[in-house]
Amino acid sequence: MSTVEARTDWDRLIEHDRVHGSLYTDPSIFEQELERIWYRTWVYVGHVSEVPEPNDYVVKSIGPQQIIMSRDKQGEVHLLLNRCAHRANLVCDASKGNSSAFRCPYHGWTFSNDGRLLGYPFNSGYGGREAKKGLGLGRVARVASYHGFVFGSFAEEGPTLLEHLGAARDAFDRLVSLSPTGEVELTAGWLQHKVKANWKMLLENETDGYHPQFVHASIFEVANSGIGDLYGDKSTAVSRDLGGGHTENDLRPEFRRIGQPLGWFGTTPDKVPDYVAQMEAAYGTEKATEVLIDGSPHVMLFPNLFIAEIQLFVLQPLTVDQTVQHVTAVQYPGAPDMNRRMLQQTIGSVGPAGFLLADDSEMYERNQRGVRELRPEWLVLKRGTHRERLDENGHTIGDATDEVPQRAIWRHYRELMEAS
Ligand code: FES
Ligand SMILES: [Fe+2]
Repeated sequence: MSTVEARTDWDRLIEHDRVHGSLYTDPSIFEQELERIWYRTWVYVGHVSEVPEPNDYVVKSIGPQQIIMSRDKQGEVHLLLNRCAHRANLVCDASKGNSSAFRCPYHGWTFSNDGRLLGYPFNSGYGGREAKKGLGLGRVARVASYHGFVFGSFAEEGPTLLEHLGAARDAFDRLVSLSPTGEVELTAGWLQHKVKANWKMLLENETDGYHPQFVHASIFEVANSGIGDLYGDKSTAVSRDLGGGHTENDLRPEFRRIGQPLGWFGTTPDKVPDYVAQMEAAYGTEKATEVLIDGSPHVMLFPNLFIAEIQLFVLQPLTVDQTVQHVTAVQYPGAPDMNRRMLQQTIGSVGPAGFLLADDSEMYERNQRGVRELRPEWLVLKRGTHRERLDENGHTIGDATDEVPQRAIWRHYRELMEAS
């Protein structure tokens, strides 16, 4: 297919304020997404706190690919593919552990945790040492991290991680600014929620400020937190296009208007006195109060990391209509009172019997079933087009419930899919 024809195809599928339903259901589009997005751009993989010690490893993913994130004995972090260099058996079964090497169960080839082939049984069959050259585990071509968040890109060349993150870097800076040590730990363990829906249904929903009042009415009622009002018609919160497909629901205008430290977390400083004292000791009372009023970001990093205030969600597409959402609670080193609350709230909202994610998941699966109906063929994303505006940094913003984020995601998606 010539480039011109390919471009015409995308013209027929993605417009400024509407997208075609086949983008969520066509297996050939999913295959192209793997090639042009998941196996090319920067994808979030894991956090350094998940492999704190030499020889620690965890099994993560980039799309359907299993990725072993290992720390070698010198302390360097590697992203390796879980495929034996002999005849492709999986070399790693455990989801995490500590080991200097991975031994393939099929014929016993052994690989060091930096990916090198260490040896094979009955080695005379390979006629000497030279035979081992070039037979290591596959690796993700580029590995880079920001505040301990490790990303991988299968592309040998391309934008750096910092260029990829662009304005969304600020989300990580804000996240760690709520930690007395300036660091976060992802040590609470992970839940996995599998849904029968295309990954882009999830991607678009994470910064959809239009649905919470309806889909999450039950948790807002039970928690009595006032969070629901942030996503209403009267809210001063904004939706934002951060560029690069990264999007945000910025609730700070509302939190600043209310001016209550920890109001974003549905609590007050007297409930977590040790944490607040540590924050004040670390940053000074004025700065700490400011940070505690502003709260934690609600930012979706294209294509797979959702910073959801006190939780992180990692999207993993498996097939065109199956996606796993990996979820964990953010934890701050040395802040047990705050950590306990973040964990409890995480269990209550996105745990197996949680009130929040189960409702979203139901919507994803209903969407996926609906989009298979033949008519109408398009999904409408025009909400708030007439009131889009630029913020002081030149980013397009809209009202809290507008579809600025969804339009931003599709614009970036189209750029990636059209690239040769
Ligand atoms: S497939 Fe791994 S040793 Fe043969
Ligand atoms: Fe939701």
